[in-house]
Amino acid sequence: MSEIKNDLFLRACKRLPVERTPVWIMRQAGRYLPEYRAVRDKADFITMCHTPELAAEVTIQPVDIIGVDAAIIFSDILVIPEAMGMKFDMIESRGPVFHHPLRNEDDAKLLKQIDPGKDLKFVLDAVSLAKKELNGRVPLIGFGGSPWTLFTYMIEGKGSKNFSYVKKLIFNNPSLAHKVLEMLSDAVADYLSAKIEAGANAIQIFDTWGGILAQDDFEEFSLWYISKVISKIKRNDEPIIVFSKGVHFKLEELAASGADVIGLDWTMDLCEVRKKIGGKVALQGNLDPTVLYANKEKIKEETKKVLRSFGEGPGHIFNLGHGIFPDVDPENAKALVEFVKEESKVFHRKDNIGDDYV
Ligand code: CP3
Repeated sequence: MSEIKNDLFLRACKRLPVERTPVWIMRQAGRYLPEYRAVRDKADFITMCHTPELAAEVTIQPVDIIGVDAAIIFSDILVIPEAMGMKFDMIESRGPVFHHPLRNEDDAKLLKQIDPGKDLKFVLDAVSLAKKELNGRVPLIGFGGSPWTLFTYMIEGKGSKNFSYVKKLIFNNPSLAHKVLEMLSDAVADYLSAKIEAGANAIQIFDTWGGILAQDDFEEFSLWYISKVISKIKRNDEPIIVFSKGVHFKLEELAASGADVIGLDWTMDLCEVRKKIGGKVALQGNLDPTVLYANKEKIKEETKKVLRSFGEGPGHIFNLGHGIFPDVDPENAKALVEFVKEESKVFHRKDNIGDDYV
């Protein structure tokens, strides 16, 4: 950790004392920044993902412009299905659309086992390059989708309201679902290990669609594979964050998955969650992303509410409860980061004299 000048984020992940609460923003490298849009004007989204120099450039932007305490490598969770042979387009205002969604055994037979060092070298090169350009200013987060979330996109073929195709598959052909989820777990674990080897200081697993499952199904189709990925990742002390959106109902189980940090969406009560699992894991979150549409006074008030909800002591990383929206004013994102930096100090006054809080 010592080669990183600002290591507040890494210390908070390990629930170690900090002078103030660290802050970063999910989707911080994105369209709300005019500087991102300028790069994006020159290249389409998938080309940006495939070009290490462009990916590294937009990764650094929010560190310079917004002042966040961690960078997250610009890429997409869908580079894994793409490397397995499933091509997709990123369509403006619609999102990703796969050319041929996976629907049956024959489709599954076409999936290729990946070698991240070869098939996803462009991401690993982006990590090394971003790391070099960051020059130890803040830690660099690597990320991947959970097997379940990747599986959902591969089956549905695009964003979905009812998730009919993926639900039909888990109920009517669970053995095929498990076969593909198993394959995805190996791919995600190898990929995240390679990202750590390339220089990532922490890993976030995005389980964006965990919350669409009923409780038992969540354990069987999502949590099981998240735990498997975590146990297979080769790491030293790089912390792992799991963000399972909408999963109010399995917090203890998530805390026992091997993750160091659990990310929370804005519908959850930080104070309550801390009481339940704050002794085992750090917590990340959880300001409602739409608060960034409000004026600065309101943003400050809501920021303080989140900080107060977690309360005193270490183990909190400030973030939004999901990604920042593309039409947010970057000045508001900047103000949010400033408010967290200022207003969180009082919650850590005793951190450095060894008091025990939890
Ligand atoms: O957080 C960061 O700044 C790092 C970059 C990042 C992107 N995608 C870049 C991106 C990360 C961490 C992701 C993860 C991702 N990708 C997730 C999980 C996170 C979450 O929000 O739940 C998911 C579900 C995807 C798949 C994906 N990629 C979708 C559904 C979309 C379209 C939605 C949208 O906002 O348009 C994307 C596109 C995407 N990924 C953009 C960015 C900056 C916008 C595309 C553009 O520039 O045209």
